[in-house]
Amino acid sequence: MAMLKYNPFRPNNIITPGMFVGRLEEINAIERCLFQAKNGNPQHFLVQGERGIGKSSLLYYIKLIADGRIDVPNIGRFRFITASIDLGGCQTQMDIVRKLGRGLKSALSERDVVKNAAAGFWDWLTNWEVLGVRYHKEDGEPDSEEVCEELVGRLSALCRGVAGEIDGLLILIDEADRPSAQAGLGELLKMLTERLNRAECFNVVVGLAGLPTLLGRLRDSHESSPRLFHTLLLEPLELDERKRVVNIGIKLANEKNQVQTTITQDAIDFLAELSEGYPHFVQQFSYSAFEHDKNNEIDEEDVGESAFKEGGALSQLGDKFFNEMYHARISSEDYRRVLDAMAEHGDQWVTRKKIIAESGVAEANVNNALQALKLKQIIIQDEARRGFYRLPTNSFAAWINAIRAARAKSDALLGAGFNG
Ligand SMILES: Nc1ncnc2c1ncn2[C@@H]1O[C@H](COP(=O)(O)OP(=O)(O)O)[C@@H](O)[C@H]1O
Ligand SMILES: [Mg+2]
Repeated sequence: MAMLKYNPFRPNNIITPGMFVGRLEEINAIERCLFQAKNGNPQHFLVQGERGIGKSSLLYYIKLIADGRIDVPNIGRFRFITASIDLGGCQTQMDIVRKLGRGLKSALSERDVVKNAAAGFWDWLTNWEVLGVRYHKEDGEPDSEEVCEELVGRLSALCRGVAGEIDGLLILIDEADRPSAQAGLGELLKMLTERLNRAECFNVVVGLAGLPTLLGRLRDSHESSPRLFHTLLLEPLELDERKRVVNIGIKLANEKNQVQTTITQDAIDFLAELSEGYPHFVQQFSYSAFEHDKNNEIDEEDVGESAFKEGGALSQLGDKFFNEMYHARISSEDYRRVLDAMAEHGDQWVTRKKIIAESGVAEANVNNALQALKLKQIIIQDEARRGFYRLPTNSFAAWINAIRAARAKSDALLGAGFNG
């Protein structure tokens, strides 16, 4: 067996601070939010972006900044207490409040100094959680508004108790788009922030992250709740940022491994191009190329083959992100060509005429394919204009484009491993 090497790329994990690249504007904006809160004028923020664009990684990086584990130029070190929760699996408002309580509890338990100052809050949280569970079992749900009211009261007492010791409290809520509008996250946040204000507790910051549907969800829950937040939209990484991720990864690998790995400029460029800037893609293509390489020099073929082969990067991404779409694409040659033609336009609207012209598929077959793909919710039809279609996300388009590009540079075609 060949010598095993440490692979630095992490397609399935939030990023380590050492490999975190870009997002400077967003980080600056959030640092300003924290700075304002520290000085008694809290600004809340909301990060939106497609899956795999780096929301959870950004929140983690922000936590390190807020906790004072990363220095901030011109400010020094923040001393916030950060509670990180995610709302996957939360169906009711009470589920959300409960997660919040648990998140606060574990954040406090990380800081002994504060835990002493917060003994009252701590005891209450402990009891409250037990109560919550018992209510849940016997008498149905407790009233989340009541519990929230109590929570805010205790929270502001806590913040006053530890003033001077810390800068404030940061509540990070990931996957905030997951609960339905009925769970009332918008309403809850509106209530929470208003009550904190009334209690003159001005150093609590709430940061949300979720899919681009998040703002709409909040609005459906409470019309004015989106206005609480400074909003940030995460875009794909720039070309030089993508290349930097690859270079940093190779450097980290060479620090750990006895056998040194090099990578050709062509391979770096190809990785950057294939990924179209989706950090998840950069990590996956790089991870697969690193694993595939046999002679400790990653070249273009390594990238192409490892992307294209069975179980390679493209099928990993397909399984994880585009499952339905992936199977539809390979189920029919017409579907594949229609989707390929649409992917050239990212997630922009394309006319049926253009699809017919660019796919080379006969008109009747394009019509059938468009109908079927629409029914499967793999493409979207414009409700306002006749004959306009688009792909649901740009990352889906990037994935389709990458299949073609990788196939062109891959010898694995002979084995027809990945059914692109
Ligand atoms: N700024 C970044 N620099 C380098 N890699 C990143 C960055 N942000 C995210 N990644 C990588 O991209 C992938 C997806 O990131 P994640 O934060 O889980 O995205 P999201 O929460 O938006 O779905 C992970 O493998 C992560 O390591
Ligand atoms: Mg995430």
